[in-house]
Amino acid sequence: MTNKIICLLSAALLLFSCTGKKPEQKLISVIPEPSFLQQTEGVFAIDRRTPVFVDFVDSSLLRTIGFLNERLEKAAGFSLEIVQDDPLRHGQEKGIFVLDAGLMKECYNLDITPGRLLIEYGDGAGLFYAVQTILQLLPQEIFAESRQRGVKWEVPCCSVEDSPRFPYRGMHLDCCLHFFSIDFLKKYIDVMALHKVNRFHWHLTEDQGWRLEIKKYPLLTEKGQWRKETVIGSLASGFYDGKPYGGYYTQEEVKDLVKYAAERYVTIIPEIELPGHALAAIACYPELSCGLEDHYETATRWGIFRQVYCPKEETFKFLEDVFDEVFELFPTELVHIGGDECPKASWKKCPHCQALIKKLGLKDEFELQSWFIQRMEKYINSKGHQIIGWDEILQGGLAPNAKVMSWLGEEGGIKAAQQHHEVVMAPYPKYYLDYWQADPESEPLAMGGPTTLRTMYEYNPVPEVLTPEERRYIIGVEGCVWTEYMPTPARVEYMAWPRMCAIAEAGWTKRPKDWDGFTRRLEEHLGRLDLLDVGYCKAFFDPFIELHKDTEYSKIATISIDAPDAEIRYTLDGTAPTEASLLYTGPFVINRQQTVTAAAFREGHILGNIKFKKF
Ligand code: ACM
Ligand code: ZN
Repeated sequence: MTNKIICLLSAALLLFSCTGKKPEQKLISVIPEPSFLQQTEGVFAIDRRTPVFVDFVDSSLLRTIGFLNERLEKAAGFSLEIVQDDPLRHGQEKGIFVLDAGLMKECYNLDITPGRLLIEYGDGAGLFYAVQTILQLLPQEIFAESRQRGVKWEVPCCSVEDSPRFPYRGMHLDCCLHFFSIDFLKKYIDVMALHKVNRFHWHLTEDQGWRLEIKKYPLLTEKGQWRKETVIGSLASGFYDGKPYGGYYTQEEVKDLVKYAAERYVTIIPEIELPGHALAAIACYPELSCGLEDHYETATRWGIFRQVYCPKEETFKFLEDVFDEVFELFPTELVHIGGDECPKASWKKCPHCQALIKKLGLKDEFELQSWFIQRMEKYINSKGHQIIGWDEILQGGLAPNAKVMSWLGEEGGIKAAQQHHEVVMAPYPKYYLDYWQADPESEPLAMGGPTTLRTMYEYNPVPEVLTPEERRYIIGVEGCVWTEYMPTPARVEYMAWPRMCAIAEAGWTKRPKDWDGFTRRLEEHLGRLDLLDVGYCKAFFDPFIELHKDTEYSKIATISIDAPDAEIRYTLDGTAPTEASLLYTGPFVINRQQTVTAAAFREGHILGNIKFKKF
């Protein structure tokens, strides 16, 4: 063999080993990555004559196959006929075979050969996830809203055995700091479901607005939905827009959304904040407070407020009434009671609170908070529901059956798991989608950071310090979307995606992390998000320049990029880089007069935006 042939062969081998496929095979780019997937030779072609054989029919099965048909109808111009028959009798026939194989919850298998596409599942969610995977195995044009001509509707042959790593795979949205329409929430849930994310944590009450219609307390929405104006910029800017801001969800809208989500195997977890973040409710019903102030008004800036619920009988009556209506609207077992950021200043001054601490023999206001939450837990449990709350519910002692949503780093999650309470990991800043994802110097205002896509991807939600027994208490992950700086749906999508793809993958796949593999799949997947009109952040294609301290006269520059196989070229004189500019190979030194200007190139094309950074 000549050297040239050896080189070619090893290049081909290297390509095969990097991408897990043979050079001529199509890259399979399912996100989240299935726990087991093996690609084989050939494709299964779908056309208008491909039957779907099912072993039995019910409304949820028809609906789920309907989701596949809806996409085919729009993009391919046909839909598949569903034939109820013993699928195995048709073993020799070409078609899609849907078989209830008694698999565990949410699990599915695919066995795809040129002659047949076999789906095995055990419950409705498993079948739904099989369909989500098939949609991602099809050409990305399947997500188009209009007829795509000239596309071969082929699925690469492969065998998939898939099941989730965690039962709770959540995405949060704060609809209080800013309000979002039901139509947008439906789109939000659609995109979650595509990623096998199965919990929508709906943040409904806050200092800055109450968003859920409660029939027994009409003021909550008549008045509590409104704030008279909104701060401009960060919470301490001192500038306000002077415009009243409001919005709320009627109970009919909530029921409709709950049903819509359930059809996509997404459970909605409503959050009713207590004892803090309650100013909008208190502005409507001041008797729920410690009564120390002349005037209570829905907050107009972001942050934490001392006006919290006073733990007295009328407050408990109010909260129990609210939860009674919540239970009617949300069939979910789990409800979120907030519990975060409750200042103790009012309780310290309040004669009722102080007398209560004495009467109950409590040590301090932290134990009063714990008592407050335990009392609410007892009520909620008595109605057949369970509570989850943010880390602070650990303060003063955790309620006996509570689950913890760990946001203050990992500590709360670790402590709760060690106490054998179930935990959802949603740590800031690692899983906070309100943090910058790219260079803050050229991004719109955000909460902090940056927390890049890569940082999110590489975070391991199961802390190493836990024993194998304790690790079992980590039941899932959640990406948090607080909307101080996201006044529009477009901003929400920009901040959430594609970083949420990384969280969804952490929640689903049991495979080890593989950043390179993820970026290859993600690049293909971004095309799907484009077709779905999800306005995600495109920093993936931009160089990220960082300048690190060195001497008074020098800094060290590093440049990174998420997009795979990209060449970074840069200049130091402020001119736009071309393909002939300096090639970035590693950290370098700049002086005070130099500006790093960088761009990424692949196959003769610039990939994203030109970025620059001055000394
Ligand atoms: C939180 O971010 N306050 C839970
Ligand atoms: Zn009080």
